Parts: sequence; C-alpha cells; structure tokens
Amino acid sequence: MQFSYINPTQIEFGQGKISKISELIPKEYRVLFLYGGGSIKKNGVYNQVKDALNNHTWFEFAGVEANPKKETLDKAISYARENKVDFVLAVGGGSVIDGAKYVANAFYYDGDAWDLLDGKFTPTKALKIGAVLTLAATGSESNSGSVVTKGETKEKRFFHSPFSYPQFSILDPDVLKSLGERQLVNGVVDAFVHTCEQYLTQPHGALAQDYYAEGLLRGLTELANTFETRDDLWYANLMWLANQALNGLIGLGVPQDWATHFIGHELSGLYGIDHARTLAIIQPNLLTILADEKKDKLLQMGKNVFKLDTNNPLEVVEKIRTLYSSLNIDLKISSYTEDKDIIEKVTSLLEKHGFTEFGDRGTVNKEVVIKILEKSI
Ligand code: NZQ
Ligand code: ZN
Repeated sequence: MQFSYINPTQIEFGQGKISKISELIPKEYRVLFLYGGGSIKKNGVYNQVKDALNNHTWFEFAGVEANPKKETLDKAISYARENKVDFVLAVGGGSVIDGAKYVANAFYYDGDAWDLLDGKFTPTKALKIGAVLTLAATGSESNSGSVVTKGETKEKRFFHSPFSYPQFSILDPDVLKSLGERQLVNGVVDAFVHTCEQYLTQPHGALAQDYYAEGLLRGLTELANTFETRDDLWYANLMWLANQALNGLIGLGVPQDWATHFIGHELSGLYGIDHARTLAIIQPNLLTILADEKKDKLLQMGKNVFKLDTNNPLEVVEKIRTLYSSLNIDLKISSYTEDKDIIEKVTSLLEKHGFTEFGDRGTVNKEVVIKILEKSI
C-alpha cells in the first residue's frame, strides 16, 4: 500500500455556521458569490450569506445550472475578471461548487477554459475557493474534482486540480431541509455509489479503507431505510456520510473503479438525467455483468453491509437494486428519454473521451458497455 494524503479543506459543521464566513475570508478579499437557480433565496441561505459578507466587497453571479454548463461558467469568469475578485464563494450543491472550481482555475488563463477539461491546460495558480454546501451528495466540498458540461457538444467531462480544494466548507445540515425528496434520494445514492466505486473492486487487505467504506455503506443503507421518518440527525448523518464518501480517504492506496460514473456522465451529458439516477440505473447492471470478477468483494459487502449469508454475488447485486427501487428511482433509461440511439451515442462519446478499457481491471470495453446498456434501456 502506498499513498500521499492531504486534504486541506477546513470543515465547519453544524447549525448556524454560515455566519463564520465573515472570519474565514480575509476582509481585504473581493468576493464572487456564486450560486444556482435561486433555491437559496427561498430557504434563507442567501440572506445568511449576505449578512456574513457585510464587511466584504462582493459581487454575485446567479444561474449556475444543475450539471453546470461551460457556457454559463465562461460568463462567470468574465464577470469575475471585470470585478477583479480574489475569492470565489460557492453557495449550492455539487454543480455550483464544481462551477466555482472551473472559474477559479481558469481565472488567470487566456485560452478557452474548456482546455481544463480536455487536459490541454494545467493551472499553476488559481483563485481561492470557499463553499457553503446546500445539497449533500457529491463530496465536491472536500475534494479536488469538478464536472462540467459543454452544452454545444453535450460532453460532460471532469478535471482535478490541487487548487480546487476549497479553503473551507460550511456544512449546516439545517440547510438540507428545503430539499425535495428527489434531491435527498440523489444524495443517498450518489454517496453510496462513490463508496462502492472505491470498495467493490478486488481483495487488497487494506483494512482501514475496507472497514471504513463498509461503515459508510451501512450508514447510507440505514438512511435509505429510515427515509420516511427523517429527523435532524438523519440530515446531519447524510451530510457527513456523503462528505466522507468522496473526500479521498477510503480510496487511498487501493484499486478504484469509476466505470459506473464514466458511463453515467455520458448519460447526464446527453439527456440531462440527474447524476445520481444515472448511477442507480447503470451500477446494478454493471455489477451483474462483472459479478464473477467482483465476486470476492460483492460477497464481503453482502456479509458486512447487508448481513447476507450467501455465496452468490448476484444476491448482493439484487440487494443494491432493491435499495434503489425502495427509494422510488426509475431504473430504466427509457423512463428519461425516447432516444433510440442511446448505445451508439454513449459508446462513441466514451471512445472520444479515451474510455476504451476501464474499470479497476481494465475489462470494461465497448462490448461490455453495450451489454450493460442493453440491460439498462
Ligand atoms: O440551482 P438551485 O436553485 O440552487 O437548485 C438546486 C438544483 O436544482 C437544488 N438545490 C440545491 N440545494 C438545495 C436545492 N433545492 C432546495 N434546497 C436546497 N438546500 O438541487 C438541484 C441539484 O443541485 P446540484 O448541485 O446539481 O446537485 P448535486 O449536488 O447532486 O451535484 C450534481 C453535479 O455534481 C457532479 C455531477 O456530475 C453533477 O454535475 N459531481 C461532482 C463530483 C465532484 N466534484 O466530486 C463527483 C460526483 O460524482 C458528480 O459527478
Ligand atoms: Zn457521483
């Protein structure tokens, strides 16, 4: 086992923490306050942030959409430059935080910011970022990843940058209470699949990573099972479980398999399907097709997460599928689009993006993707 680990993001967790922004951003910084479609104006978060920025010079940019678009974010970059900002404060879910990362990393770059996503540009400096998380799902508030969609080509791509770790992230679970069921379910599922992508691979014997991942999966399963009776602690648990699922810890020095995400991203890019729903559709079918090669970890998951006594990995896959169905998720792509060329479009985009042999063993090739998609349509 070998790894380097640093996660520099300061976490401020708990009720009423938004007011801390006033101390967390140096007073002399000019702040870009970046947010989405307006949910923060309805639930009081906008006013809390505004109050906390009382002694700062700040500028607001609204309208970062779910599955954030390059075209919108490029406007945010111009606006940030016009106003000579020093700091980007993202107030929203993964989309707004990912958008802030794109803006911050491209701020000093003269070329097309999309070059970040195509791997043609590696930043050497960037604006600093802070986040107020309003949707617990992606872990973006504590990691260096960012996912952006180019509207023109419907390509959804990701980039990592060491400058993308927020300086701080504020996690006030009360903020989650204005989320509708659809987004809360998305949060549970996205965090569950993040954990699986770093766990359902092959035996490696790294006990901290395995057992911590199992703890997160058990916690998330419990949240799914108590969804209808959620209380304050439920929201707090979702916020922290989702953070821990993708802050880098459980994937240290162990094999990872992001195949479900890579296929899912193409589906969101093409059809605008919620990120978590693409995962819920694809993952059980991918695990069915790869049940033999993932047998050991699936059985370990069955025993340690679901308390299942079985030697059949497909029974464990069925447990996962049932978990998603119990959250009322449609598990067929055809529920979201009438397009008849899904397989052709997804496979050619995957190829264009260099995903020809992926998964932790490199066994997910075009033929396997086609089998997975056939089961998913
Ligand atoms: O735009 P507003 O009006 O704020 O509404 C949002 C949005 O419509 C709403 N919302 C957010 N907080 C709310 C709220 N509504 C009521 N009350 C609140 N407190 O929820 C909708 C969805 O928000 P979004 O930010 O898109 O959701 P999520 O956090 O699931 O982010 C999804 C994006 O993150 C990417 C996904 O691909 C997708 O683009 N991911 C980012 C990752 C990362 N950076 O590490 C990893 C993930 O695997 C994922 O790929
Ligand atoms: Zn995800």
